[in-house]
Amino acid sequence: MFTGLLFLAVIIGSIVFHVWTPWWWTDIASNWSAMDDTIILSFWIGGGVFILVCLFMVYCIFRYQYKEGRRSEYKPEDKKLEKGLTWLTTIGVVALLAPGLVVWNNYIRVPDNAIQVEVMAWQWGWKYRLPGQDGKLGASNNRIISDDNPYGLNIDDPNGKDDVFVESNELHLLKDRPVKILLRSIDVLHNFYVPQFRSKMDAVPGTITYYWFEPNKNGEYEVLCAEYCGVAHYAMRGKVVVEDEGSYNKWLSEQETFSSFTAKNRNNKLNKKKFVKINNLSSNKNSILKEQDVR
Ligand code: CUA
Repeated sequence: MFTGLLFLAVIIGSIVFHVWTPWWWTDIASNWSAMDDTIILSFWIGGGVFILVCLFMVYCIFRYQYKEGRRSEYKPEDKKLEKGLTWLTTIGVVALLAPGLVVWNNYIRVPDNAIQVEVMAWQWGWKYRLPGQDGKLGASNNRIISDDNPYGLNIDDPNGKDDVFVESNELHLLKDRPVKILLRSIDVLHNFYVPQFRSKMDAVPGTITYYWFEPNKNGEYEVLCAEYCGVAHYAMRGKVVVEDEGSYNKWLSEQETFSSFTAKNRNNKLNKKKFVKINNLSSNKNSILKEQDVR
């Protein structure tokens, strides 16, 4: 009797908590409302089954409680009941999985007008690469990453020359324009996740994974790494700014291209060589002076 009432309290408590929960999703800021719909469908199916199973148990507790002289029936098999349960479970599982497959299919079918954005994940931070005027990202390979070539670009690929380097945790995106996110990692598994966009995927070293979304609300959003990747995983955050064309183009023009990066690097190296030379000269002078002193 007491157990039955306790069970009833658990059911009612669960429903009340679900309706008045203090934890819920952030406001959506992309096209992926289908993600929310599939999760809500899972809540309905999972919640419905939970309530039915619990109510059945409450019913059994009351209906079959101990009564003197009553004996239980031995019934090892019930074909009709088993058939019904099998069908019900099948329908439930299909309803849980099928909508997700449909959404996934859209998730990886990128619209033609999408802007490519490469997300480079590293322990522990983010940086980005955008195609230049040609709209194409140059070919890359993690094996040729160096100080001179931080994205491992194939220098023989003309598509890479005008690629834009964003060596910062902050990425800007155009409002109402689809983006194709291409994910790379230089060390371990990471996961690029902006909760408001309802989209995420693992960045896997050695391969390029992708998905797309369309930001549709101006604002600043936090990027989180959603794959445990070491001691500073918690701090692997970034920022995405969704804005209109004017401010987006201004930001874009402030970023560096691969060509200008290489040119600057070459100059730095030349300067460094000069510096070393001057240093050598002065140390030579010192040694001459010293020699004179000795004399
Ligand atoms: Cu990168 Cu967690």
